[in-house]
Amino acid sequence: MTFFSKIIGTGSYLPPKKVSNQELTDQLAANGIETSDEWIFSRSGISSRHYAEVDVTSSDLAVEASKRAIDAAQLQPNDIDLIVLATSTPDFLGGFPSTACVLQNKLGITNGAAAMDVQAVCSGFMYALSIADSMIKAGTHKNVLVVGAEVFSRILNFEDRTTCVLFGDGAGAVVMSRSTEPGVLATKLHADGSYADILCVPGNVQAGVVAGSAFLYMDGQAVFKLAVSLLDKVANEALELAGLDSSQIDWLIPHQANIRIMQSTAKKMRLPMDKMVVTVDQHGNTSAASIPLALDQAVRDGRVRPGHTVLLEGVGGGFTWGAAIIKM
Ligand SMILES: CC(C)(COP(=O)(O)OP(=O)(O)OC[C@H]1O[C@@H](n2cnc3c(N)ncnc32)[C@H](O)[C@@H]1OP(=O)(O)O)[C@@H](O)C(=O)NCCC(=O)NCCS
Repeated sequence: MTFFSKIIGTGSYLPPKKVSNQELTDQLAANGIETSDEWIFSRSGISSRHYAEVDVTSSDLAVEASKRAIDAAQLQPNDIDLIVLATSTPDFLGGFPSTACVLQNKLGITNGAAAMDVQAVCSGFMYALSIADSMIKAGTHKNVLVVGAEVFSRILNFEDRTTCVLFGDGAGAVVMSRSTEPGVLATKLHADGSYADILCVPGNVQAGVVAGSAFLYMDGQAVFKLAVSLLDKVANEALELAGLDSSQIDWLIPHQANIRIMQSTAKKMRLPMDKMVVTVDQHGNTSAASIPLALDQAVRDGRVRPGHTVLLEGVGGGFTWGAAIIKM
């Protein structure tokens, strides 16, 4: 029997504290770190980002996004039989136990639904969506909650101006269900571990203390070059698998890291900028949360509608990258 998987509900959540470039510039200046709204916006397209309060975890953001997605899908939490959650900022050290398990409990899911975290940094949602699609198509699961949730502010070094201005916190979620009509038309994932050290948190725990650093490190220029060389290629691979060409795409929803990377991909794909959903200006880079956050925003404001064909793509630490073609 052939099963299809389809997104039947989306949701997202941003922590209330919004910090503009000017506010961040003023805060950093108080510690002797020099930056400006002009530098941040011109290099990245970011105007503001949201930060969670110190006692708020990824699962707290995930639970709000998930409730909205489950409501939009017109399901109850106990209809979910699998949670796949992408995060690089898990509630517990080493992601042990998984944030997906914490989320399951916070949602009041008592049916024994399977729950797992996925670690592919900013490509995490692409990986999670692809896993959910495969499990539904294999016939083992029917209603999968796919989540990207991050409190990236926890791993930012606010003395490193080259990274701390670029990232924010948030969560996005979709419910994917078994369907009689095609939804996810194609997915393609890749990784190359030889680039592990250009975007990483270069520490681990030894004898109960952090050895190395618990802060995000990024070689910005290397990441930039790699991202622009990979994203259109994987998008074209996914298009080919779906038997489509880019003129048939209604919306491009890329990982929201940097407007210049996003513009470059759109140009190479011959997609006009008005077909691209942009949230990086308001959210900054929310890592695994950025794609489902942007998707939910575009669904809720009426841009992405049932029947539309959407190209999702992302790139992140690992290095990892992936794309998906979806019929909404
Ligand atoms: C990080 C990034 C915005 C930096 O832009 P860039 O044009 O490459 O800037 P550079 O690193 O060359 O730095 C240029 C200058 O700005 C300075 N600078 C860096 N951060 C700054 C900041 N926040 N404010 C002001 N100046 C800053 C640098 O020190 C450097 O000064 P120098 O020339 O005197 O040494 C860019 O490399 C980038 O977007 N990389 C990809 C990031 C990304 O998307 N990561 C996530 C992928 S999932």
